[in-house]
Amino acid sequence: MLDFDAVRRAFHAQRPQLVIHCAAVSRSPDAQANPELAWRINRDGTAHLARLAADIPFVFFSSDLVFDGLTGNYDESAKPDPSGVYAQTKVAAENFVLANPRHTVLRVALNAGASLTGDRAFNEQMRLAWQRGETLRLFTDEFRCPIPAVVTTRVVWELVNHDQTGVFHVAGSERLSRHEIGKLLAARWPQLHPRFAAASARDCPNPPRPRDASLNCAKVQRILPFQLPAFSQWLRDHPDELI
Ligand SMILES: NC(=O)c1ccc[n+]([C@@H]2O[C@H](COP(=O)([O-])OP(=O)(O)OC[C@H]3O[C@@H](n4cnc5c(N)ncnc54)[C@H](OP(=O)(O)O)[C@@H]3O)[C@@H](O)[C@H]2O)c1
Repeated sequence: MLDFDAVRRAFHAQRPQLVIHCAAVSRSPDAQANPELAWRINRDGTAHLARLAADIPFVFFSSDLVFDGLTGNYDESAKPDPSGVYAQTKVAAENFVLANPRHTVLRVALNAGASLTGDRAFNEQMRLAWQRGETLRLFTDEFRCPIPAVVTTRVVWELVNHDQTGVFHVAGSERLSRHEIGKLLAARWPQLHPRFAAASARDCPNPPRPRDASLNCAKVQRILPFQLPAFSQWLRDHPDELI
């Protein structure tokens, strides 16, 4: 993706009818540790792809972390106020994407799922840590609206099929603290004898993270033929999924 000429050649050879752009330096600590790379991939790479895709639908994955996290329940009219490098690069990329009225920005929440390598999603990382016998310190004062990645995928297809452009918030319908999320996953994997302790985000100021990144998804919900699920209910309804 950083070889812009190669990307251009591939684009012209393949002539896609739709681009769904997920590639990123996707973890805040990585972006904070290597800002130059984060800006190059997250902003410049996105702008390059958006330019190539100027005449076709383009879906860009942004993040719930673009907000200041002081109030939560952010809808699409809320003004981003990114605090760390990761969120800053996402906001800059959003601005490039939204300059084209054919294009779409999804601010997605914490996604749970099964990655090809088995170690990318937050649920996989928690599971691996418990398998190693670690005790996790989980914040009681940092809130997200986790969503299964399979649901996010369905949302993408619905929006594309309905030619929806502009900004959309895509999250689960339940606001949970990191500690509550940990409790739900611990109950799912009793065989791991999961251990975790309550902690405060105040004790871990770096990299800066919004405390309450919960999203209001009423806009996308009006378009969807299904309800965005509460994470706890989805886990109960899908006992055999790899989450
Ligand atoms: N997962 C979440 O909870 C979450 C929440 C909010 C927003 N998002 C956003 O959603 C998108 C997908 O997230 P994810 O969790 O799937 O991220 P991920 O697991 O880190 O995957 C990112 C992908 O980007 C690729 N990539 C990174 N740099 C590249 C480069 N220079 N050239 C080509 N490919 C490159 C990576 O390739 P390699 O496999 O080769 O490393 C990887 O496949 C990201 O934009 C992320 O910021 C995710």
